Amino acid sequence: MRTRDEVSDDKLRGGFYSPDVLVELCIRRSAELLEGRSGLSVLEPSAGDGAFLRGIRRSDVAACVERVEAVEIFAEEAAKAADVLRSMDVRGHVANENVLEWSQGRAPEFDWVLANPPYVRFQFISDEDKQRAKEISSGLGATGSSVSNLWIPVFLLSLSKLRDGGVFSVILPTEFLTGISANAVRNWLLAHATDLTIDLFEPGSFPTVLQEVLILSGRLSKGADSGSVVRFHDHNGSVRSWSHRVATASGTWTSYLLPPEQNDALAAVQSIPAVGRLGDVARFSVSTVTGANGYFCVDSALLEDYGLEEWAIPLLPRARHAEGLIFTSEEQRDLADAGRPAWLLSFAATTSSPEAHGPARQYLDEGVRLKIPQRFKCRVREPWYRVPVVPAGDLLLSKRSNRYPRVISNHAKVVTTDTIYKGKILAGAPIAADDFTAAFHNSLTMLSAEIEGRSFGGGVLELVPSEVSTLRVPVVPGAAAELPELDKISRTHDDPEALIEATDKMLTRLIPELDTRTMGVLSDARHTLMDRRLQRTHTKFYG
Ligand SMILES: C[S@@+](CC[C@H](N)C(=O)[O-])C[C@H]1O[C@@H](n2cnc3c(N)ncnc32)[C@H](O)[C@@H]1O
Repeated sequence: MRTRDEVSDDKLRGGFYSPDVLVELCIRRSAELLEGRSGLSVLEPSAGDGAFLRGIRRSDVAACVERVEAVEIFAEEAAKAADVLRSMDVRGHVANENVLEWSQGRAPEFDWVLANPPYVRFQFISDEDKQRAKEISSGLGATGSSVSNLWIPVFLLSLSKLRDGGVFSVILPTEFLTGISANAVRNWLLAHATDLTIDLFEPGSFPTVLQEVLILSGRLSKGADSGSVVRFHDHNGSVRSWSHRVATASGTWTSYLLPPEQNDALAAVQSIPAVGRLGDVARFSVSTVTGANGYFCVDSALLEDYGLEEWAIPLLPRARHAEGLIFTSEEQRDLADAGRPAWLLSFAATTSSPEAHGPARQYLDEGVRLKIPQRFKCRVREPWYRVPVVPAGDLLLSKRSNRYPRVISNHAKVVTTDTIYKGKILAGAPIAADDFTAAFHNSLTMLSAEIEGRSFGGGVLELVPSEVSTLRVPVVPGAAAELPELDKISRTHDDPEALIEATDKMLTRLIPELDTRTMGVLSDARHTLMDRRLQRTHTKFYG
């Protein structure tokens, strides 16, 4: 995680300005909602050098604007915005203030909000602003939403300054749709706004903006009923439009990035008897937390040097070290002999004490020299070197993935650390571990991983165990017969999609309802979401 000193001033204040094309679309969307109203009072809560003010000046709605209030924390930029305001034939003021303070005690007195709120991560926000953000969110009944990024309180406070019926068009990071932390904001919006429209853009369309953005437009309404039709326009090549009825929920809005026909296909396959919720057939959980993987995970040479063989248990250090869908004992030994840390040191109470063995004692002394006992997880256990080892599971699943999460059948009975979950098939389920692995890497399951998982800067997909449980999986007794062939494809093909294509083909053969057309629609949907996510790798905010 970067500190304040390591990122530029522009990033610290979220100072990336809106390109004209986005400003113009915001004004067009708002104009549609304003329906020719005049005498408008406009709020721009984080004005920068005045991109929205210039946008109003050159648009037809300029004639309908009576007053503009803008806020900007940086004096130099506020002065530029004030110059723009002076050149407009309207009343108004640019306040060189922190909008979190400016908003305190202000009445809802505006008809129109235009904004591109600052995108500043929590760790870079001052303690005073964190406190103000919390107060703003809880004052509006959107508790739990304030802490992840500055755009959230600025967005909420701006909308709260609209009169009933006032309209807004706001440029937001796409994490508004896909981020877990924006959940309270989404639900607040459904309860307080109508006529919602979201404009989506191909990731990377605006290189100067850096993070992936969308435009959210709508109308503040006391009569909103927590369940709205939201209209989507996707500006990726030609514009494609669709609507979803969206209700208050605990999940993200990632699935609404898909047009309804793809969402409908996903809904339809859920009722196929051979498709189930992963949590109904298997359970994945967190594996061993050592507190110092570099010290407790070792290779064969180190075992020999310190005579530690007695305490070594076979380990898969990283999912990338398993090339296929089956991990064997031979592969584990090859890894350890090739200098990979493929042994975990387990100084369990049931084994002899390492302190009584000369070379092993030396390794413990080396740990003391490296200050391993002072590390958090080691400090809280007695003795510091006794790692509570979580026993091996029959299945392994990468916690984070680039293209897609991979399940591996653990034939080697290796343990893992915190980057790989361990899994087992539940008692009474009609399948075995190898059936599960063989059927897992298909377009349906991978699409549900894109929808249920979380993605952070850099485009990596992460699944926590509760999200893993919600994945949709085909439950196919006997699929294990195909595992050797799929394992071979996974090991030998350069194209990682080859495994998904082969698994899809197998499923269409074994489950008649999952026909080629349906799998094709699910595959397109998965690619839509995955491509968006992967694109973030190229549009890193803290590059
Ligand atoms: C993403 S830029 C957008 C600027 C302009 N609205 C535009 O669309 O080009 C966000 C702006 O918010 C300003 N800002 C950051 N924190 C602020 C705060 N607490 N109060 C007011 N402005 C702030 C930054 O200096 C920056 O100019």
